[in-house]
Amino acid sequence: MRIGILGSGLMGGKLGTIWARAGHEVVFSYARSEQKLTKLARDAKGKARAGTPREAAQEADTVLLAVHWSRVDDVLKQAGDVSGKVVVSCSLPMNADDTDLVIAHTSSGAEELAKRVRKARVVSAFGTVPSEVLFDVFEARRKTSRPSLVYCGDDAKSKGIAAQLIRDVGFDPVDAGPLRIARYTEPFTLLIVQLAYEGDEGPELAYRFERFGK
Ligand SMILES: NC(=O)c1ccc[n+]([C@@H]2O[C@H](COP(=O)([O-])OP(=O)(O)OC[C@H]3O[C@@H](n4cnc5c(N)ncnc54)[C@H](OP(=O)(O)O)[C@@H]3O)[C@@H](O)[C@H]2O)c1
Repeated sequence: MRIGILGSGLMGGKLGTIWARAGHEVVFSYARSEQKLTKLARDAKGKARAGTPREAAQEADTVLLAVHWSRVDDVLKQAGDVSGKVVVSCSLPMNADDTDLVIAHTSSGAEELAKRVRKARVVSAFGTVPSEVLFDVFEARRKTSRPSLVYCGDDAKSKGIAAQLIRDVGFDPVDAGPLRIARYTEPFTLLIVQLAYEGDEGPELAYRFERFGK
C-alpha cells in the first residue's frame, strides 16, 4: 500500500515507521523541520521517504491524518485534493491545551472531518491508544493474544483497508460500526489517557475486549 503520513509527530512518526517496516510505501510529511522527516524516513528503513503534504497525499491510496485538531485545516489545505482516498484519522477534536474535547455528544471529530473532505472516505482508527504503546504492540504481533483496536467508518472497502493497517501494527481490529460511533470512541480515549498518564504504571497501555457466552 502507498501511505501518506500527514503529521509526522508521536503518532504519525511511529505508525509510518511501523508500516514501512511491514512493507508499505510511506511518505512522511508535515513537521516543523525537514530534517525530522528525512531522519524518520531513513530510520524507518523500508520504502519510506520524506515529502510535502501534497506529495504524501497525491501519491498515496491511503493517508493517515495525525495532527492536532487546530492544524487539521492547514494540513488538509497543503495536502490538496483527497477525493477518493481513504483518510484514516487518529486526530481527536481536543482544545488547545489538550484537556477536553471540543466536539462531542451530537457529533465527533471524525464526522466533522468527513464534512471537510466530502469526497474522501474517512475511517477513525488508532486514536484510542497512546503512541507509547505502538512499537510494543508491533514487537508482540506474533503472540496469540493481540490487543483490540476499535475503528469506525461508513465505507466498507475503506474499513477493510484500515483493518489491514490495524493488523499490520499488531492489533486485533474491532469494527465498531459507522463513523458516528466516533462519538463514543473519542471520549473513550479520555479514559485511556487517564489510565496511561495519570497512574504509576506508564503509558504503554492497550486494551482488549473479550466476548463470552458462545
Ligand atoms: N500522542 C498520542 O499518544 C495520541 C494518541 C491518540 C490520538 N492522538 C491524536 O493524534 C493526533 C496527533 O497527535 P500527536 O501526539 O502525534 O501530535 P504531535 O506529536 O504534536 O504531531 C503533530 C505533527 O504535526 C506537526 N506540526 C504541528 N504544527 C505544525 C506546523 N505549524 N507546521 C508543520 N507541521 C506542524 C508536528 O511537527 P513537529 O514534529 O515538528 O512537532 C508533528 O509532526 C492529535 O489529534 C492527537 O489528539 C494522539
